Amino acid sequence: MPTYAIWNNKGGVGKSYLTFQIAAEYARTHQDEKILVIDMCPQSNSSSMLLGGMVNGEMALDEIGSAMPRYTIAGYVRERIASPYHTPGTGSTYVLRVRDRNNRIPGNLFLVTGDEELEVLSSRVLNATQPGPDDAWTKVHLWVRDLIDDVQESWGVDSCTVFIDCNPSFGIYTELALSASDRLIIPFSADGSSKRAVRTVLSLLYGTTRITGGERSEFARKSEAARLRVPKIYCYVGNRLTQANRTSATAFRTVVNEIGIEIFNVWRTNPNYFCIHPEGTPAPATQKAFRDMFKYEVNDANSASVVSSALGIPIVSLTAGQHEVAGRPVSVNQTQLDRQQPNIVELVSRIE
Ligand SMILES: Nc1ncnc2c1ncn2[C@@H]1O[C@H](COP(=O)(O)OP(=O)(O)OP(=O)(O)O)[C@@H](O)[C@H]1O
Ligand SMILES: [Mg+2]
Repeated sequence: MPTYAIWNNKGGVGKSYLTFQIAAEYARTHQDEKILVIDMCPQSNSSSMLLGGMVNGEMALDEIGSAMPRYTIAGYVRERIASPYHTPGTGSTYVLRVRDRNNRIPGNLFLVTGDEELEVLSSRVLNATQPGPDDAWTKVHLWVRDLIDDVQESWGVDSCTVFIDCNPSFGIYTELALSASDRLIIPFSADGSSKRAVRTVLSLLYGTTRITGGERSEFARKSEAARLRVPKIYCYVGNRLTQANRTSATAFRTVVNEIGIEIFNVWRTNPNYFCIHPEGTPAPATQKAFRDMFKYEVNDANSASVVSSALGIPIVSLTAGQHEVAGRPVSVNQTQLDRQQPNIVELVSRIE
């Protein structure tokens, strides 16, 4: 079963929000499997939502982050800094069952929580890629894959579905996350700069250059040389699309279509970057078939999204009515839910 990285090097496009929604819905619809989320972002936004949101989730993060030892992604990274080239095999000790903290999450969803301490550790992780054995860079880039292997071993399974929420910047942690992933989910927002971000992701990950002779990304060069797998694009998700009124809906549609054309052009020149799905399906032959396979959309659900993330209640199980957020009543109406719930259900049903 594959590992999915949720990444776009553009910030604020919904990586963490979608990690939360997708992982929760995937766990709900795959009750016989254990699902793992790894939060590789120092901001820990997806961990916070999974653990119960703005109040409970943040409290849980504070408690987990101040315990000794620290059972978070930073705790694992610390252990790997001490043992960079030999896996200590302890990855599973950093995993927690989300339902033990948030009863709105299915019991089969597990988490390695994010941790702000990642920031201060990053220079030491980078140092570990440089000196040492010839394959130091490769060994360090396998840390997250080692972590997943440890968890699978402790669960007694050969593979499990993993979702990794990434930091926007193409820093060392994003590189580690991508080196552990088979498939890439790229959220984007309906604005002009998302069009450029589509190209940027490709150049960082696969080393494509816009100008002949341009310098290829170091990650692309090194992972090719080390024969490390890099994830294939599973889908692009146009996120937070508004249907507020006809004019803004049309404006959004125009921008999303433009980005769609940009992505289709990438497919035409580099089909090998994409993961055909479902498995066994022929490659899309038309622009429409391409769109059907690779381009998904998630609408903005306004206050329903706010309540969902603030309380750590997945949008699919959120109900209409009054909810209390930080001591104040906030109402969610069915129209808002109807905008986004089907998108998440559809997106997750297409994840193999
Ligand atoms: N479909 C959506 N509908 C409504 N709100 C959304 C939706 N997707 C994301 N948001 C909100 O948009 C904001 C940014 O989303 P999020 O934090 O997930 O982005 P990100 O890509 O993870 O950001 P960063 O690059 O900082 O990690 C958050 O407040 C989130 O709750
Ligand atoms: Mg985020």
